[in-house]
Amino acid sequence: MPDMVFHGHMWQNHSLTLAKTHFAIRVSAAEEHRRFFMRELTGLTVENVRRDFPSLQREWNGQELRYFDGPGGTQVPDQVISAVSGYYQTSNSNIHGMFITSRETDEILEGARLAMSDFLNAPGPETISLGANMTTLNYSLSHALARKFKKGDEILITALDHEANRGPWLSIQDSGMVVREVPVTGSGVLDYEALERMINSRTRLVAVGWASNALGTVNDIGLIRRLSREAGAWLLVDAVHYAPHFPIDVQKEDIDFLLCSAYKFYGPHVGILYSRPGLLDELEPDRLKTQDQSSPYRIETGTLNHAAIAGVEAAVNYLAEFGRGDGRKDRLADAMSRIGSYEHSVGSHLYRGLAACPKVSLFGPPMPDNPGARTPTMAFRLEGFSPEEVCRNLGEEGYLLWDGDFYAARIIELLGLSGRGGVVRAGVSLYTRKEEAAGLLDCLDRMNR
Ligand SMILES: Cc1ncc(COP(=O)(O)O)c(C=O)c1O
Repeated sequence: MPDMVFHGHMWQNHSLTLAKTHFAIRVSAAEEHRRFFMRELTGLTVENVRRDFPSLQREWNGQELRYFDGPGGTQVPDQVISAVSGYYQTSNSNIHGMFITSRETDEILEGARLAMSDFLNAPGPETISLGANMTTLNYSLSHALARKFKKGDEILITALDHEANRGPWLSIQDSGMVVREVPVTGSGVLDYEALERMINSRTRLVAVGWASNALGTVNDIGLIRRLSREAGAWLLVDAVHYAPHFPIDVQKEDIDFLLCSAYKFYGPHVGILYSRPGLLDELEPDRLKTQDQSSPYRIETGTLNHAAIAGVEAAVNYLAEFGRGDGRKDRLADAMSRIGSYEHSVGSHLYRGLAACPKVSLFGPPMPDNPGARTPTMAFRLEGFSPEEVCRNLGEEGYLLWDGDFYAARIIELLGLSGRGGVVRAGVSLYTRKEEAAGLLDCLDRMNR
């Protein structure tokens, strides 16, 4: 079987050939087989996947590290690392110049928009804006909407959301906007009856997370879209915690604005904003008069992190390798379903183990039978220990978990845990082995005795 040739913005140390402004990479037939036919995401193939991630190979104190910190930021595969370092090796430049490295930089930025458009099933790359992170883009949007909305207009936020989707909206109350908070039920699910009562003809925007980065709750975006549409309000979705786990289709869900962050789905630290075609042109974001005033550039400020953006396309291409289909969009949709199913199987194992532990209190909704209704992110406390102590003890054993509120401060406050160190958070990623979940449960069991 002959070697396969792939074109794209990919860099590797071997067999590198330059074709126009693109790079071609030769991989062996065996490598091709591994990439496209072995990635069924069973426990066995996860061992293959793990080889792509250099950080998973490192040892500390003579032991492997077990990464349960994905909701705070996932590890990065070789393909992404090569794209970022390759950019500095070959194309480092500013944009819009009449020379090769600048033209390559332009292509890399447009390549990332196209990749993200495929990832979100957006109508096209002109709907994708890039920024430092989700928080910065959301602040820019909130300033722009403050200029558009009138005094007395209402914005709905939720008690479940990360501060990055609350703070920017709370900050524009000074301009006369009324910001109202949708409450959460005892099981960590949005109170949809309250939302239905709160939404009205003055509501201009509903800003809601798709999934809670603290409790793993997945919100009913279909219902929220229907209610916001009936009220004539825009829907802004924070998909930062949802995007690593499930396929996204902004057109099917009829979303106006959606934000996510590449470092949560195996890419670098870059924020991404999707805006429904035409919407950004209606707004007046903070921007220089010298900058491109058209969408999607209209909300971007200054020089972007080009090297990191090179890694965004590589991360999307990496994820697409897990799926089958005719083009990248189809492969991504299939891939994200497979990843969601695999993570669900490991997450369910972990959830059941934690639930069976008498001294563990679990927060958030129960783990459903099917993936999609909850992310594989667990929040818990262990009786007799603060979350910080649990994480320190686990850390000594090579288990990496976060403690605290993870900036989902409001829900942690409502749970009465703000002054008590919050919760311990265990997140499952596409590279998490079932054995690691079992090992984590064993460690907790030993602490319990
Ligand atoms: C659900 C959610 N929203 C928003 C953010 C903020 O993203 P960024 O760090 O890109 O500003 C995070 C980060 O943890 C998050 O988990």
